[in-house]
Amino acid sequence: MDTTPFLRMSGVRKRYGGVTALAGADFAADAGTVHAVLGPNGSGKSTLLKVLTGVVAPDAGEVLLDGRPLRPRGPRDTLAAGVSAVYQELSLIDDFTVLDNLVLGVEPTRFGLRDPRAARARALPWLERFAPAFGGRVPAGERAGDLDPGERQVVEVCKALVRDPRVLVLDEATASLRRGQVDVLFEVLAELREQGVLVLFITHRLAEILALCDRATVMRNGADTATVTVGEVPERELVELMSGGAGAQDRPAGQAGAAARPDSGARPAPPAAPASAAEPLLEVRELSGARLHGVSLQVRPGEVLGLGGLQGQGQSDLLAALFGADRRTGGTVLLNGAPVHPRSPKQAVRAGFAYVPGNRGAQGLALGRPVLENFALPSVGRRAVLGAALSRRRELAAARAVAERIGIRYGSLDDPVSTLSGGNQQKVVVGKWFPTEPAVVLMDDPAKGVDVGAKAEMFAVVAELAAAGAAVLLGSSDDRELVEVCDRVLIMFEGRIVDEVSGDRLTEDALIAASMHITPADATAARGLPAPDREPAASDGGGRP
Ligand SMILES: Nc1ncnc2c1ncn2[C@@H]1O[C@H](COP(=O)(O)OP(=O)(O)OP(=O)(O)O)[C@@H](O)[C@H]1O
Ligand SMILES: [Mg+2]
Repeated sequence: MDTTPFLRMSGVRKRYGGVTALAGADFAADAGTVHAVLGPNGSGKSTLLKVLTGVVAPDAGEVLLDGRPLRPRGPRDTLAAGVSAVYQELSLIDDFTVLDNLVLGVEPTRFGLRDPRAARARALPWLERFAPAFGGRVPAGERAGDLDPGERQVVEVCKALVRDPRVLVLDEATASLRRGQVDVLFEVLAELREQGVLVLFITHRLAEILALCDRATVMRNGADTATVTVGEVPERELVELMSGGAGAQDRPAGQAGAAARPDSGARPAPPAAPASAAEPLLEVRELSGARLHGVSLQVRPGEVLGLGGLQGQGQSDLLAALFGADRRTGGTVLLNGAPVHPRSPKQAVRAGFAYVPGNRGAQGLALGRPVLENFALPSVGRRAVLGAALSRRRELAAARAVAERIGIRYGSLDDPVSTLSGGNQQKVVVGKWFPTEPAVVLMDDPAKGVDVGAKAEMFAVVAELAAAGAAVLLGSSDDRELVEVCDRVLIMFEGRIVDEVSGDRLTEDALIAASMHITPADATAARGLPAPDREPAASDGGGRP
């Protein structure tokens, strides 16, 4: 055993007002390993790694890198020391090209480079290496704002890699990636490990820990509780470490009622049986938009319908179009048999739609506003319709009830929602819809970054909404989630529905097969056009990570 680890953090403390983010955390990791950092939402994972990268100044504690104390005055200092990070909050500038984003802020002296052209030349190979994650293209000259969320995330990773790190911090970098993209990332990370890089990897996905990580440190209430060698503990124990009974302790005392949650936390309640005889509650006929081409589907009351397929095949576009956030260019949407055409999210809410976006920063939350206000946003439209003005007290009570149910960890409901941990922010995005009793629930990757315990509880609430008669349309980057939560899953490709998987056929393998085995001929048949000369994005896929 090596007694002097490459990285050692000891006694790290950080408080924000009344909230203790870190309560004396210790952490040690070796070069040439992939080291997972696990724990429930709000347990201090991001804060710990932000102390390492110099983004957060700790109240107390020490960081030793390669035997030398690291006392950064900011991220620039740690970058120079070889620590590079991808944070939960994304950092790309939409109007810059991908390549310009990659070289932005690269310390020229570190490479002895003064010439921006040379920096670009250094960045380009990373984009080429990740080409399969961009569906085979190298998007160097594309506007970052035009990429889908998964692709943007891959660019973030490239941006960290261009800085040539000795320590690479990935804070839930896979949360919005689909399988093919994760495959490429994992290949690269394995190569980096071979080269002696330390990769610190925060995730809530068990499969990723098993596939990639050598060691794992579990956080709880701002402190480390265990560090294990992944191959040496049974899978069940890992799940327990990630979630088991721990959620309750990660909430302020006032919210202790939320302690009741499933043991393993891995499996949400089964979906309500669809009333197959019932008339569809939501019917979409030949819907078209910028990236949608003649989409038709039906969802019955009580049914949870999934949207699967490779990433960026129109799933998000479909959900946004139904919510009135993206323009429709054709087609009909019927709600209970009557045509609806919401031209804005506000109109959609009044019609009975709820929408959980995949990008909480841009669409889901008013980040600078208080937690309570963010809860109140969606009910405003409904309230006006119902003519019942909610008092602040009732608003508080409703927000508290939801927070307790899905275990949202916050200091005060009056704090800006931006002070919540990433997973807790996402819980607000989802939870704020629960009291509105929507007829149709549109969800775009709602469980992104949510810990396993809360995820089970969240989908249990979704199942309850369905059981109460709502129609649920769920897009997800996680095939396992689709299998567990949905009654049927539609496979999308290039803005069209090309397949449906349901009943006994609904397994992860079947979803992968249906997503990957779309031949150009299938796609052509689906749209009634001549065969494309380009291979579909499916060709990037290898084995599972
Ligand atoms: N800037 C801040 N202001 C106030 N409180 C904060 C701030 N940053 C973090 N916190 C609080 O510190 C605690 C730990 O947050 P942190 O982001 O480290 O959690 P996490 O383990 O990364 O959770 P997640 O899995 O949800 O990302 C949370 O309760 C959070 O609300
Ligand atoms: Mg975090």
